[in-house]
Amino acid sequence: MPKFYITTPIYYPSGDPHIGHCYTTVACDSIARYKRMQGFDVMFLTGTDEHGQKIEEKAKDKGVTPKEYVDEIVATFKKLWSYMNISYDRYIRTTDDYHVESVQKIFKELYDKGYIYKGEYKGKYCTPCESFWTESQLDEKGCCPECHRPVTEATEEAYFFKMSPFADRIEKLLTETDYLRPKTRATELVNNFIKPGLEDLCVSRTSFTWGIPVTFDPKHVVYVWVDALSNYCTALGYKNSAFEGDFEKYWPADVHMVAKDIMRFHAIIWPAMLMALDLPLPKHLAVHGWITFQNNKGEAQKMSKSLGNVVDPFMLGERYGVDAIRYHILREMALGADSGFSNEIMINRINSDLANGLGNLVSRTVAMADKYFGGTLPAERQADELDEQLKSVLTGIREKVDTCIDETRLKNALEEIFVAVDRANKYIDETEPWKLGKNEADKPRLAAVLYNLLESIRIISTLLMPFMPTTMPKVWEQIGADENICSYENADKFGILPENVTVHKGEILFPRIDMAKEIAELNAIIEKNMAEAKAKLSAEEAAGAFTPAELAEQITIDDFAKADLRVALVKSCEKVKKSKKLLCLQLDDGFGGRQVVSGIAQWYTPEDLIGKKVIIVANLAPAKLCGVESQGMILAADTPDGGASVVFPDQSLPCGSKIR
Ligand code: MSP
Repeated sequence: MPKFYITTPIYYPSGDPHIGHCYTTVACDSIARYKRMQGFDVMFLTGTDEHGQKIEEKAKDKGVTPKEYVDEIVATFKKLWSYMNISYDRYIRTTDDYHVESVQKIFKELYDKGYIYKGEYKGKYCTPCESFWTESQLDEKGCCPECHRPVTEATEEAYFFKMSPFADRIEKLLTETDYLRPKTRATELVNNFIKPGLEDLCVSRTSFTWGIPVTFDPKHVVYVWVDALSNYCTALGYKNSAFEGDFEKYWPADVHMVAKDIMRFHAIIWPAMLMALDLPLPKHLAVHGWITFQNNKGEAQKMSKSLGNVVDPFMLGERYGVDAIRYHILREMALGADSGFSNEIMINRINSDLANGLGNLVSRTVAMADKYFGGTLPAERQADELDEQLKSVLTGIREKVDTCIDETRLKNALEEIFVAVDRANKYIDETEPWKLGKNEADKPRLAAVLYNLLESIRIISTLLMPFMPTTMPKVWEQIGADENICSYENADKFGILPENVTVHKGEILFPRIDMAKEIAELNAIIEKNMAEAKAKLSAEEAAGAFTPAELAEQITIDDFAKADLRVALVKSCEKVKKSKKLLCLQLDDGFGGRQVVSGIAQWYTPEDLIGKKVIIVANLAPAKLCGVESQGMILAADTPDGGASVVFPDQSLPCGSKIR
């Protein structure tokens, strides 16, 4: 049995997955399903890329270990893939033991062969991208050329991978073979990275620990991209014993699919690593663009959590069905180009192609077979020349789709199938079966027309199965077919359904979407998300831009000792009448109690404070505020936005404890 090995990138579990992550995964899934249908022994790999400084820092912020942090997000990724019907054969986590073992062996082999050597790294490092850049690669502002955030100067002992020995072979791979798809991207890679001279790559880090240790120098961890890229081989058991025989069987990969931002790693570094390891190179690298978010001014933005414009696949799936979402993203994205996501385009696409085009074809055909023949077609038929035109289009699409799949052009594959949908719908208009149904003498012709339509639907639904795996079995049920009849082998032939086929009216496959209503609801969701993200960002920016008030004049320790600071419990608290700013608090100060008035009513309600211990200046001369006596004051810090934040001491301290 021929084999077929396809991979997605392994995703960073650094936030919830979104519709952008779905694109590659759904695309690879559709290809994997198509290849299985063709009879290939398929290995479809996906997974998560779990090491690196970024993950280490995020986990620290959350107060959990990096492994705990990634475990939680990996579960969300897996939930999404199961929701989107992703039929992966293997899921690799770079924290899996077998992968760690293999990466260590790969690093050692490259070192032993002299391709990895120890040196000193001086250069620019982008932490969010975990990438080193040379001066000439930085953008015009001196920032990371990929994410445009500031880079930091880094100097440290590090291991380097010699890239120059592979430069010529890589240039040939990119320019003279069809490894890279689309090939038009080869020029930018050659001009930007190879022509200026391939620089050696820094492949170890010592400034953090969340990575795979270098066995012979364990204060170094392996550079996250070397760790990550190796997954494509380690997941097949390369240099480990987890998957006996798979590496020999499936390597080299037939398709690595990635988005443009990580093309460089797959087009240059990965081939260089494989060349150094004396391994065969993957056959194709398919590079697609991003799903960008089209805002209401029609501008394309990269989806990002901080802009609040990420599109949630669960939310879309709940509204329109997973298959409609799978269809939409695959139908919109051409290999190599970006694709703007907008709710209008999505709804139009679902309504026109799925509800009107495919849905109508199925429901009209089945309804007519039901109405005119009680569901079962009679054997007596009358053919017409028109039928041959339909048949020749329908029996020809499989070959066209095969080519598109082999060239990773999924948008075109769907376009081809929908040419057939349109042709079949046109055949209904040409043959006017509703007129034939009125006349008994026309029944044999009507039976032929409906049979030809059912056959068309069989071919169409067979070829659509890899793209919309939930809906197509429902179509088969309606046209009286099953997965044996709807096989790949039968998809270029006419006359497969039994002569007296029986149809079954079923649910509407793709209900028409009320555009105005849905757009209003979806826009409200996205506007809310964007407003929340903006508020969060401005709070963070305000915090970042905070300049502390100037320091007061110097005092001696004796001066300070004059202030008597004590812990006190807020027993009760109420707003001071006639004042918007003041709260009056009754305190247990450990000395029989006292009343303090504090100007914090704009930021605290009485309920926020009752039962809490605070710090008071206990020997402050009493004063009247709004006519209410205050015996001391509560300590609070100024906040960057001009507010106040009460200082809460360790709540187990007894009332009256002195602070010094
Ligand atoms: N961990 C690396 C890949 C290592 S592969 C050996 C990584 N992970 S990622 O999670 O940041 O991105 C994974 C893939 O998802 C990339 O190809 C990235 O471009 C893609 N996408 C992320 N957002 C996307 C869109 N909005 N649209 C399309 N693809 C998007 O990079």
